[in-house]
Amino acid sequence: MSETDMTPRTDAKICGMGHSMKRKEDPRFIRGKGNYVDDIQLPGMLYMDIVRSPHAHARIKKIDTSKALKIPGVLAVIDGPTLAKYNLHWMPTISADTQMVLPIDEVMYQAQEVCAVIATERYIAADGVDAVEVEYEPLPVMVDPHKSLAPGAPVLRKDKKDKKDNLAFHWEAGNKADAERALAACDVVVREQVYLPRIHVASMETCGCVADFNSAEGKLTLYMTTQAPHAVRTVLALVAGHVGLSEERIRVVSPDIGGGFGGKVPVYPGYVVAVAASVVIGKPVKWIEDRMENLQADSFARDYHMKVELGAKKDGTMTALKISTVADHGYANASANPSKFPAGLFSICTGSYDLKHAFCEVDAAYTHKPPGGVAYRCSFRVTEAVHAIERATDALAQKLGMDPAELRMKNFIRPEQFPYKSILGWEYDSGDYPRALKKAMDIIDYDALRKEQAEKRKRGELMGIGVCSFTEIVGAGPSKHFDILGLKMFDSAEIRVHPTGKAIARFGTKSQGQGHETTYAQIVAEELGIPAAHVQVEEGDTDTAPYGLGTYASRSTPTSGAACALAARKIRDKARDIAAHLLEVSPKDLEWEPGKFYVKGAPQMAKTIQECAFAAYTNHPQGMEAGLEATHYYDPPNLTFPFGSYICVVDIDRGTGEVKVRRFVAVDDCGNIINPMIVEGQIHGGLTQGIGPALFEEISYDEEGNISGGSFLDYYVPTALETPKWETDKTITPSPHHPFGAKGVGESATVGAPPAIHNAVVDALAHLGVTHFDIPITPEKVWQELKAKGIAE
Ligand code: CDP
Repeated sequence: MSETDMTPRTDAKICGMGHSMKRKEDPRFIRGKGNYVDDIQLPGMLYMDIVRSPHAHARIKKIDTSKALKIPGVLAVIDGPTLAKYNLHWMPTISADTQMVLPIDEVMYQAQEVCAVIATERYIAADGVDAVEVEYEPLPVMVDPHKSLAPGAPVLRKDKKDKKDNLAFHWEAGNKADAERALAACDVVVREQVYLPRIHVASMETCGCVADFNSAEGKLTLYMTTQAPHAVRTVLALVAGHVGLSEERIRVVSPDIGGGFGGKVPVYPGYVVAVAASVVIGKPVKWIEDRMENLQADSFARDYHMKVELGAKKDGTMTALKISTVADHGYANASANPSKFPAGLFSICTGSYDLKHAFCEVDAAYTHKPPGGVAYRCSFRVTEAVHAIERATDALAQKLGMDPAELRMKNFIRPEQFPYKSILGWEYDSGDYPRALKKAMDIIDYDALRKEQAEKRKRGELMGIGVCSFTEIVGAGPSKHFDILGLKMFDSAEIRVHPTGKAIARFGTKSQGQGHETTYAQIVAEELGIPAAHVQVEEGDTDTAPYGLGTYASRSTPTSGAACALAARKIRDKARDIAAHLLEVSPKDLEWEPGKFYVKGAPQMAKTIQECAFAAYTNHPQGMEAGLEATHYYDPPNLTFPFGSYICVVDIDRGTGEVKVRRFVAVDDCGNIINPMIVEGQIHGGLTQGIGPALFEEISYDEEGNISGGSFLDYYVPTALETPKWETDKTITPSPHHPFGAKGVGESATVGAPPAIHNAVVDALAHLGVTHFDIPITPEKVWQELKAKGIAE
């Protein structure tokens, strides 16, 4: 399939790859018939609500539950000492750090869970929370990660016996001395401070669970909002095996999920307390966060302070890069990064450019803030890496007086260099960066825009053009490099074809709105010729789905998608033997076209996949196992490297400082496409989630650790009003190692959009000598800059 000739191989009845099939899951969603965790009602179910700390750091002197327990309907209050009796008051984070479930004596961030009230009604539980009286002794608060890492800073994690500082980890890639030497030899060096503030995924559905412990069977069913149900089951078994919850007695069910974006990968204390409550009381317990709890206490994203140095020759040839980062991880390192990559895939920071010398390092600090950070619609810190290099590239263009698009074109890894080994250790699978940027420039008519900008500048109008040419890295494993808490990062598919030729397919991943029920069915349709409408897709139930590491970091297509194709091919191989048996020919004499085998040179002698399926149960050859099913666990040989070029046009209001995104062209390349409509939808959503951090979203803390941005009153997510009409297009550069040439796409736009907008705003004011803004670029920040330059109206 090429982007000009996207003719699918299958017809609309089969609806294999390349068809914009309408999403199979949507009829239930648009009718309000989705089945989310909060829709689950079980007989005798109780409700949990959580008492949270108003202080960022305090000693708990006393928890008085007496008034709460007098409220009719309040059944129990669970606190740290209760959990400590079962050794359940601490838990591992997914980064192998440790985190309190409930505190015994000290709270470490505002909104931390202190204790939980269990009641017969949700509102009674909330009344119980109000009636619990906690006496705190406030303690000194550390909110600044730089101060936290300074010598002599008070040690925050006193629970770690030998800890003498607040360094959560140090990680680096590349040769520091070499990069520094190369920078010193450059004609031009730009030094940019790029801060990506703490933000939140703010998914439509908050987190929650229903924990249902059946004491007669000794089995726990945990319905929960998780992107990685199998990993949760294993971790739960490792943590609570000693109280009888061994792995075969735990069923984790992740039903419909209303957006995850990485925020539903971590295990939050609320889940564990709800499980403990159900085990102790013997009834199902439901816990659903409210919006403010979600924003204030769940894992944050970003919070990377990056010092970027990029050097080049006079002609603009980029040669050396060095990035030193201070990462604020809050009170515990709870990021969802693979074990060997504590700073995720940050070393993709050389981006789309052929840089010969590079070094990056990350120092992660503990502070009195909620733990994290999650890869918000991002492959393990790729967003941070892309923002750093794309901002620095624009700063370099500005310093050299070169056009930013021209500078990029000059430095791109050339198409003939693929597979390309980056200086920081990655092997980029395929790409054609000049083509994507050229396409974006043609669509937006870049030269005409520059002329328009020059004319507007003469009239005193402020218009900016921002470019971002990003390279992504998605689809972890390979398992030899990637694991989470020791669990190797592969993924799985299991397909069963029923006697009548319909099928069920199950996966180790878990959709949160990405449309897996549709796209996986299309992969089966492509490989087997069974209409996608006849393929039922299931994910998220650990009792039925094959083991997998879940959905985040755009890994589903590169891993489970590949597993799906390979499982289907195993089925096709068996079906070929069955067809040969039915046609009384040798399997070697058969040709395949989607949906049927036929005899070479005699196409009228054919057996459909449905006939083969029926025979697999009614008339299979002697000596062959009955049935038609296969499982595949796919361990990718490499990651996939989707890419794209985005160009954004902004206008700035000199009276208010408001930035308006007037046009935004996004050219994406995710290799071969399963469903063009879904891919476009993924890009629209990702772009919208890209405006947020660039212009509006930030969670910050005052000196006492009080949050700002902890409710939708002051955490401003973009709405339809701020969202321009996205103009999308594509190039197609298949992945050479993926079974059907696909790359992931889910997060490309969230990664690529913020630097494009950021660059556009700086560009709008570049002629006035402005070189820098911190995101989010709020009207206030812009207006202050305009005022400083004497042009605010
Ligand atoms: O892991 P996640 O589902 O978030 O990300 P993904 O693998 O990039 O897929 C997002 C959605 O886009 C899924 O429904 C994919 O099947 C679809 N997709 C596609 O149709 N073609 C591609 N080349 C990549 C993704």
